[in-house]
Amino acid sequence: MPTYGERDLIFAKGKGCYLYTHSGKKYLDFAGGIAVNSLGHCHPKLVNILKKQSEILWHTSNLYKNNNQELFAQELCKKTFADKVFFTNSGAEAIECGLKVVKSYWNLKNKQKKNIITFKGAFHGRTFAALSAQKNKIYSEGFTPLLSGFKNIAFNDEKALTKNINKETAAILIEPVQGEGGIRPASIQFLKFIKEVCKKNDILLFLDEVQCGFGRSGKLYSHEWAKIKPDVLATAKGIGSGFPLGACLATTKASIGMVKGKHGSTYGGNPLAVSVGREVLKIVSDKKFLNKVDVISRYLWKNLKNLESQYDEIVDVRGAGLLLGIKTKQNNIMISNRLKKNKLLSVPAGDNVIRLAPPLIINKKHVDEAINIIDETLKNLS
Ligand SMILES: Cc1ncc(COP(=O)(O)O)c(C=O)c1O
Repeated sequence: MPTYGERDLIFAKGKGCYLYTHSGKKYLDFAGGIAVNSLGHCHPKLVNILKKQSEILWHTSNLYKNNNQELFAQELCKKTFADKVFFTNSGAEAIECGLKVVKSYWNLKNKQKKNIITFKGAFHGRTFAALSAQKNKIYSEGFTPLLSGFKNIAFNDEKALTKNINKETAAILIEPVQGEGGIRPASIQFLKFIKEVCKKNDILLFLDEVQCGFGRSGKLYSHEWAKIKPDVLATAKGIGSGFPLGACLATTKASIGMVKGKHGSTYGGNPLAVSVGREVLKIVSDKKFLNKVDVISRYLWKNLKNLESQYDEIVDVRGAGLLLGIKTKQNNIMISNRLKKNKLLSVPAGDNVIRLAPPLIINKKHVDEAINIIDETLKNLS
């Protein structure tokens, strides 16, 4: 089905932070498979572990106990707020699971809490529940009727939140950094405010860290910057570094409704995915690794801000860690295509933003190369 439109570029292989065409043309990958390739392309440790696992066992389904899956869940819990994990294959499935966690919690408590607060500009995926949650016509046109029970309010707006919560509010679902919506970070103050509102009003806090999580912000999960803890969290993309994998993380308390028979997935957390995920977690959650991400993202930020001060074309540079956006005056897709012509890959996002979501393993040389290409592209724009 032609849902992706026409695509003109074919890549034959990838290595580290670069992609290569069949004719050997080399591209610097600051798209990262849309914030997925956390460890770049064909990371030797991931190739090795996947090769090994592929010779032992691929798939058994969740009818049988999977020791490595349980170990992976324990490792994730040890490094996060969570006590429980449900493995999925994608971000939208992790969101679906999180919504079921919320619904089943209030159902078990026998409370009439039916509404989930979401935010303008949000993106939670392409399933019906996700379309219903984000209430964005760009994605949901032609797919009505959507699910009821979602209230979509202004982002980063404490007054709007206060006005819209009531006894029926079941949960607040938010991306700490909006990705598709235009790389818009929630302020630390807003995240702290949401947490307080949740505590005071008996509301579950559900974070969507599918795009901004798994090391991308310089912490394992970006909410750690605000020193808050959610009840439920959706994670995907970077957790598999390119292998399809996601997870819904939750506290014991929040997940009490998710008992036998309430949810399932044929593939979720299968041996291949788990083998890769465990290795990615081991590498990315290392303090030294995260510190390097923090240092290099500040270097990229500084250089982008420098370009912002030189070019009127740049309206704004924003984001967090290695999820950065350049809002331009002229059409972002046109400029992103020019960058591509100059061998730098980026991804357009909402609000006329060019998104940079490179592998977390970039170094100064990669940043300098990217900045030079952006500089040259902007110089030659008019
Ligand atoms: C914040 C966020 N949530 C959920 C999703 C959906 O993830 P997937 O495409 O893996 O279903 C995305 C995908 O871009 C996302 O950015």
